[in-house]
Amino acid sequence: MSEAVLMEKIVSLCKRRGFVYPASEIYGGIGNTYDYGPLGVELLRRVKDAWWSAMVREREDVVGLDSAIIQNPKTWVTSGHVGGFSDPMVDCKKCKARFRADKLEDARCPEKPSKKPGQCEGELTEPRAFNLMFETNVGAVKDSSSIAYLRPETAQGIFLNFKNVLESSRLRPPFGIAQIGKSFRNEITPGNFVFRTREFEQAEMEFFVPPGTEHEWFDYWVKERHRWYLDLGIRPERLRIRAHDKDELAHYSNFTSDIEYEYPFGWGELEGVASRTDFDLKRHSEASGVDLVFFDPQTKEHFTPFVIEPAGGVNRIALTLLIDAYDEQKLEDDVRVVLHLHPRVAPITAGILPLVKKEGMPERAKEIGKALRKAGLTTFYDEKAAIGRRYRRMDEVGTPYCITVDGQTLEDNTVTVRLRDSMAQERVAVAGLVAHLEACTAAWTRDAATA
Ligand code: GAP
Repeated sequence: MSEAVLMEKIVSLCKRRGFVYPASEIYGGIGNTYDYGPLGVELLRRVKDAWWSAMVREREDVVGLDSAIIQNPKTWVTSGHVGGFSDPMVDCKKCKARFRADKLEDARCPEKPSKKPGQCEGELTEPRAFNLMFETNVGAVKDSSSIAYLRPETAQGIFLNFKNVLESSRLRPPFGIAQIGKSFRNEITPGNFVFRTREFEQAEMEFFVPPGTEHEWFDYWVKERHRWYLDLGIRPERLRIRAHDKDELAHYSNFTSDIEYEYPFGWGELEGVASRTDFDLKRHSEASGVDLVFFDPQTKEHFTPFVIEPAGGVNRIALTLLIDAYDEQKLEDDVRVVLHLHPRVAPITAGILPLVKKEGMPERAKEIGKALRKAGLTTFYDEKAAIGRRYRRMDEVGTPYCITVDGQTLEDNTVTVRLRDSMAQERVAVAGLVAHLEACTAAWTRDAATA
């Protein structure tokens, strides 16, 4: 299957099965913006849960934060975003379309899609800096004094609260502050579905370390984050770590590595791990007049911590999981579409399927579904169509387990558990069902799933 076809299939599956819809679709949509349907929100929620567990709950040295999207606009002047968070843009003098000057290779003329901008009859302007931040106005008056910005990264909210968290949590470097939340960028480039959108959720952590230890912590976090993706079942051969060249470093960073994935449209950044030095804390200290220095009572030393920042995008992680999990298997009489998602992130954990729509099986199946939901599992009840077709519907959305209630269930209180990846079936007592499914999830590996 060609890479373009694979991408088309994923976009179509996402729409058809309720993962992702184009936003404002009934009005013709709005560029690079998407809504998440019933299965999409479940997938995003699980990605966030897995990230939060690994980055906050399972650690002693990281705490969480939820800062405001609209901060004092001085924040963005100080951070360098007002002056420097821009892409070079060119305009077509003929059709007035705007393109990123550094991505012309990937762009298409809207009037002649077979041509690249500048290769059609339209002449392009000289590149100009175009700031990616969305402006808004706060308060009753709409003038230059009321301008504020939708945050383009969650990180700054963490720097602004460095002193608050230090004082209230009594942590000392090395320690981290993690946050998941929406960020906004007026992206002009074609987005490759939800890879690049105008609003997206970031999962970022600023890890504050004593100066001089930034190299070892940087190596530590690159390894940790790479391992996290492997643990979620992403194929190792489709992941790589790429160090930034000097000329691609962000203004705040002295070294950065991206964890990249091989998407159908080529290698792309999945997550960045940046050494942000003491740039942000120092700048905010100077601009606000509030001392953002750490005082170590043991050594009596004052220092501004250096920062290591692992920064990922929740939507991009979800897209990556979907692409990586997508599989078409040729069976004797059929092609089976299956998402080999890690059971921890699958939107539905168990399909609840009565074998037939009679003899008390639907009622018993619904009772079992209720018990599973009470134990925290997500279920989907389906009694329509032949059992084989119902299995396929669950495979296509990555449901790892199907619980079939049949005549024997009514006699001995056992059910059939059918596994998505191997299609193997086993008989399990209802009393031990939750423990059994949890054990299967804990033991799941991508290699075994696709062996
Ligand atoms: N605080 C650092 C920072 O924001 P970034 O590399 O610009 O760094 C971090 O963003 C992550 O956020 C990226 O690796 C990507 O996963 C996600 N991201 C960035 N821009 C995005 C966009 N327009 N749409 C979707 N995800 C995006």
